[in-house]
Amino acid sequence: MQKHLLKLLDLSREEIHEILDLADQLKYDQKHGIPHDVLKGKTLAMIFSKNSTRTRVSFEVGMFQLGGHALFLSNAVSQISRGEPVQDTARVLSRYCDGIMIRTFEQAEVEGLAKYGTIPVINGLTDFSHPCQVLADLMTIREHKAKLEGLKICYIGDGNNMANSIIVGGLKCGMDVSVACPADYLPHPDVLAFTKTVTDAKFELTQDPMTAAEDADVIFTDVWASMGMEGEAAKRQHDFVGYQVNSELMKVAHGDCMVQHCLPAHRGEEITEEVFEGHANEIFDEAENRLHAQKAVMALLMK
Ligand code: CP
Ligand code: NVA
Repeated sequence: MQKHLLKLLDLSREEIHEILDLADQLKYDQKHGIPHDVLKGKTLAMIFSKNSTRTRVSFEVGMFQLGGHALFLSNAVSQISRGEPVQDTARVLSRYCDGIMIRTFEQAEVEGLAKYGTIPVINGLTDFSHPCQVLADLMTIREHKAKLEGLKICYIGDGNNMANSIIVGGLKCGMDVSVACPADYLPHPDVLAFTKTVTDAKFELTQDPMTAAEDADVIFTDVWASMGMEGEAAKRQHDFVGYQVNSELMKVAHGDCMVQHCLPAHRGEEITEEVFEGHANEIFDEAENRLHAQKAVMALLMK
């Protein structure tokens, strides 16, 4: 296992499966009241430069269930937003804590914490990637479909952090991945370069959601305007018309096609109320699995 979780590009298929297997075990333990306080006495610093419900709660609860403690450093109260450099924050937190989880804008900030600190760093979302979310998504798909390899997953919408991580996570696990994005909103060039190196799974990039969704086993979507893009929201409402997961789109997918959404969702934009509520079980399993997947990541990195 790596020393950090900075992005899925850094992980091998075996490492992803190691995390998913431990996540399944920890979920079983939690549900059956089996103690698993493997991080007793350890502390996780959680840095948030963006809003969060799931990430904050699941890391804090997860750390508690593992016998440790998590502390919340919001942008509003820490010195980070006043300009303290990442190399100093990294070295200070390394003297107090056993791990850092960070949600921020630039991927470089996360990589900088890992470079200058001496403790494991976990990416809780950047503009580039959302690895913890996609580990939870892979866990959820495996629970529902009993396998990953050979499935076809599809992403409709903005080529954002979720698109980047779904593409990498899906292909690394041997799934065919098809993505429909408007031409001006493509996934990151590093991710597109990675798709060209994959030999045992197919990647398709199109501007046509119907083509992407054909025969899909899982359809993903995400908001049209991510955190930090609020100023572009009106333009995006226009540019993303047609990039919606709705019942027409679901008809071209497999009959038992799952729907995944990292949440929060904007009903009537990237997904209809009907499709969302029809697949709410799968979507809230996905939200729950953030807890178990992240507990596995913390246990592997911080023990
Ligand atoms: N999916 C996700 O990361 O949710 P939060 O923004 O609420 O943490
Ligand atoms: N793409 C979204 C994901 C939120 C969990 C964002 O970055 O805001």
